[in-house]
Amino acid sequence: MGLTKTIWDRPEEYLRAHEGDSPVLFFAPAALHTAARAFLAGFPGLVTYAVKANPDEAVVANLSAAGIAGFDVASVPEIEMVRRIAPSAALHYNNPVRTRREIAAAVALGVGSFSVDADSELDKLIALVPAGAEISVRFKLPVKGAAYDFGAKFGATVEAAAPLLARAAAAGFRPSLTFHPGTQCTDPAAWRAYIAAAAGIARAAAVRLHRLNVGGGFPSHRLSGPAPELSAIFDEIARATAAAFGANAPALVCEPGRALVAEAFTLATEVRAVRDGGHVFLDDGIYGGLAELPLIGIIDRITVLDGDLRPRTGAPVPRVIFGPTCDSMDRLPGEVALPGDIAEGDRVLFAGMGAYCTATCTRFNGFGALETVTVMALG
Ligand SMILES: Cc1ncc(COP(=O)(O)O)c(C=O)c1O
Repeated sequence: MGLTKTIWDRPEEYLRAHEGDSPVLFFAPAALHTAARAFLAGFPGLVTYAVKANPDEAVVANLSAAGIAGFDVASVPEIEMVRRIAPSAALHYNNPVRTRREIAAAVALGVGSFSVDADSELDKLIALVPAGAEISVRFKLPVKGAAYDFGAKFGATVEAAAPLLARAAAAGFRPSLTFHPGTQCTDPAAWRAYIAAAAGIARAAAVRLHRLNVGGGFPSHRLSGPAPELSAIFDEIARATAAAFGANAPALVCEPGRALVAEAFTLATEVRAVRDGGHVFLDDGIYGGLAELPLIGIIDRITVLDGDLRPRTGAPVPRVIFGPTCDSMDRLPGEVALPGDIAEGDRVLFAGMGAYCTATCTRFNGFGALETVTVMALG
């Protein structure tokens, strides 16, 4: 019958059969289901997925099958895609700046929840969204703990959030609050500060919150050593909500991107050259699947495989790592410890690469054709 194998056992099995020079992204649906189960079992509220982190349709389909019933969407194409794959899922349009055309399209596609962080944006929603929909006021705090701060672009100050919330409620919407503590946020105290501030905003607005969306920002496992403990953050969120709201506690929502999807993908690159006293040139870099590294730091969960796909065991040596383009900016941050015997043709596998990898990959200089291959397991 000439059946082609489309699901491989492990990355090594595929790499043995393919000597291509494009980087390959290995996807293990089983790992995605494990992450979804951890959120569904541990988070004290509704778990939604921030599609922007990885908009691969297979990711959305698998999360939906795993029981994720809501999606945070940022654009009309994302709304259309999720509607097609998970028609009954709840859609939260939480990009706080939208054109009137986009709002009208979202309403027509059945979106019932929108975020807002400015009066000018609330004007648009009041004009176009039927009363009864959820409007979540997005607010920001100057708290630390994340790899980078999202407050520079979005979010009303605490002072501005209260009148905005009161106005949304008075216009007949279900009033909610939302925040994002910043991506790769490893400090549970950031959530505690935001939740306490949310209770203050609701009091100042004299509004009983419909829901509190505690954002994305949950960290993934980037550095070797123990993985960040999501359960500590979930517990802190439950404790902080009870302490701040008491008997008036709103239902909770979260919208992780990174922490749901990161662990389900491994990026396999190839060493194009080892040059100039030991600099390593890979076939992927900051214009491709590794775009995020200069922004939020290195992923050092790296395995180097030799030509026979056996792990290199040479003593680690700090290396400069360059990507394949002609741009000298195309370099991973700092120096990365790689086995001293690394050589041309070796494969360098980065674990935990499911988030903001394909989503931000360019084809600069003709590189960056990231192929995705499904595997039973990544390691
Ligand atoms: C509104 C909103 N929600 C959720 C996320 C997902 O964040 P993370 O991937 O850090 O969980 C983002 C990321 O940009 C966002 O803008």
